[in-house]
Amino acid sequence: MSLFNYEDSEAIGGVFSVDTGSVLVRVEDVEQLRKLQVNHLVALRSSRTGQHLIGIIHKIMRKALMKPLDEETDEATPEDGTFEENIIRVTLIGTLKDKAGEKPNVFQRTLESVPEIDARCFILSGERLTKFMQAISIGAGTKPNALSLGKYTIDEDANAWLDGNRFFQRHAVLVGATGSGKSCATAHILEQVEPLQNSNAILFDIHGEYKTIEGDNIQHFHVAGPSDLDQGTGLADNVIFLPYWLLTYEEMIAFLLDRSDLNAPNQAMLFARSVTKAKKDYLEKEDKNEILKNFTIDSPVPYSLDSVIGSLKILNEEKVPGATGKPIKGDFHGKLSRFLQRLEAKIGDRRLGFMFGGGKDVMDYDWMLTLCTKLIGGSGQQPYGGVKIIDFSEVPSDVLPLMTGMVARLVFSIQQWTEKEELHPIAIFCDEAHLYIPEHLAANAVNEAGFRSFERIAKEGRKYGVGLVVISQRPSEVNRTILSQCNNFIAMRLTNAEDQSVIRRLLPDSLGGFSELLPILDTGEAIVVGDASLLPSRIRIDLPKKKPTSATIDFWDEWSKKSTSTGIANAVESLRLQAKIKKNLPVR
Ligand SMILES: Nc1ncnc2c1ncn2[C@@H]1O[C@H](COP(=O)(O)OP(=O)(O)OP(=O)(O)O)[C@@H](O)[C@H]1O
Ligand SMILES: [Mg+2]
Repeated sequence: MSLFNYEDSEAIGGVFSVDTGSVLVRVEDVEQLRKLQVNHLVALRSSRTGQHLIGIIHKIMRKALMKPLDEETDEATPEDGTFEENIIRVTLIGTLKDKAGEKPNVFQRTLESVPEIDARCFILSGERLTKFMQAISIGAGTKPNALSLGKYTIDEDANAWLDGNRFFQRHAVLVGATGSGKSCATAHILEQVEPLQNSNAILFDIHGEYKTIEGDNIQHFHVAGPSDLDQGTGLADNVIFLPYWLLTYEEMIAFLLDRSDLNAPNQAMLFARSVTKAKKDYLEKEDKNEILKNFTIDSPVPYSLDSVIGSLKILNEEKVPGATGKPIKGDFHGKLSRFLQRLEAKIGDRRLGFMFGGGKDVMDYDWMLTLCTKLIGGSGQQPYGGVKIIDFSEVPSDVLPLMTGMVARLVFSIQQWTEKEELHPIAIFCDEAHLYIPEHLAANAVNEAGFRSFERIAKEGRKYGVGLVVISQRPSEVNRTILSQCNNFIAMRLTNAEDQSVIRRLLPDSLGGFSELLPILDTGEAIVVGDASLLPSRIRIDLPKKKPTSATIDFWDEWSKKSTSTGIANAVESLRLQAKIKKNLPVR
């Protein structure tokens, strides 16, 4: 049955001027005009039966005109002066067909016909709006797993649905100024992903603000901090180590090499040689003959850093017999000193314990499987594991791009090597993406190395079922290549002109004035555009059941309270330890 069973009497007016993409409608009743708002939706009867044209109100006008002449006498009527005409300009955005083939109520972003003069115009609201919105977020009305975002601002009775398939298939962007509600929106989306039987999503939680999000299918992990290093053997299940041997050669070099060092090429070459040797030794010891045959320096095989350092030290101190028989300095004598110094300093840095600590466990051949199972696999009965929130808050900011990049790369590689018939899609939510997928890479090798993983996912992820959700408060500082691969936009309030212009350029041209709403959106409100919603809409996103701990602090209220304690002592000690001390623990 047609969604739009409008009676003629419900019309607000008729079309009196038609342009290619827009029409003018004369609204007959001034009371009707008062109810209309810019950005509301209207339906117009099309010249083709079974079709309605859908438009957005772009402008509402009252025009003053001269009073028409009396038809019979051709003289001005006694009430000389002006009268007013109520006009709305409507931008046409698509067609709703009652039926296309077998499918009922199909919305298309094309205009196969234009409305005729005097075509009736109806306002789209309430239940009709909800039904229309459900019809356009393909399958939403029939499938129970459509992603619900919140309510349309233009009609708070209408639920806003996104097509959950399309949203993750071709990547999404969630942007908004600080405090505009991104983290809450993320939590709200995750709360709906979580109950799906076989869902699979990873969230990079950079500030540790998602600890409060709970559910049967939500697991919390954190990247090991200094306080996790002294736990002895048997690492806790929720702690993640990201050992150095999982880094590719490029990444390791980006991390260790000082490119400005004169000896950098030698250092890189010798490091590569000794790492390859150390990996070979490891594989031989473990009897992995198949892998020995075709492993490369990039193969994720554990190796002993001690033996690498040992062999580099030998070269660095080596003396060889000279022409006269007297020992002279070897080819690389002293050329590795600074490299070794850097390497040893990093190994000794407790903040990097997640990379160099972990003891014997992380050197186990099967340890990578354990890690990947944590990241991709599920817990309990399910082979796949709901939502995994990884807290990166104790990872120093200078290596953050490397570590997030490594996790993303592992996920992508596993997907790549999974048989097609066993492939299971996974979404990676990157909160605070400007910190590790930055726009400006050139100056920083670490940024670049991490970026490569995200770039691959953005470009090729669709084929292997890896979806990115890029979340950031500074879209102008997030890498443009990644952003331009994203097909869904949830843009919350953006006040900065640069950020606005980045988003404006990413949105489709046909949206016209829609992006002008960006600075005036309320907290929790968003413009949603893209594959998953077909129709550009302004949506008030529902609050999640459990909010992340990112609440905006009420300065005045806090200052007005009486308080007897401060957390300064704990904070100072935490700062020194580079680890959060739990409350009530005696300060050492
Ligand atoms: N949908 C919503 N409706 C009403 N209030 C909201 C909504 N979303 C967020 N808020 C309020 O805004 C505050 C900040 O939200 P949130 O932490 O999600 O911001 P953010 O955009 O992630 O900021 P940042 O970029 O600094 O991380 C929340 O504490 C919450 O009270
Ligand atoms: Mg946030």
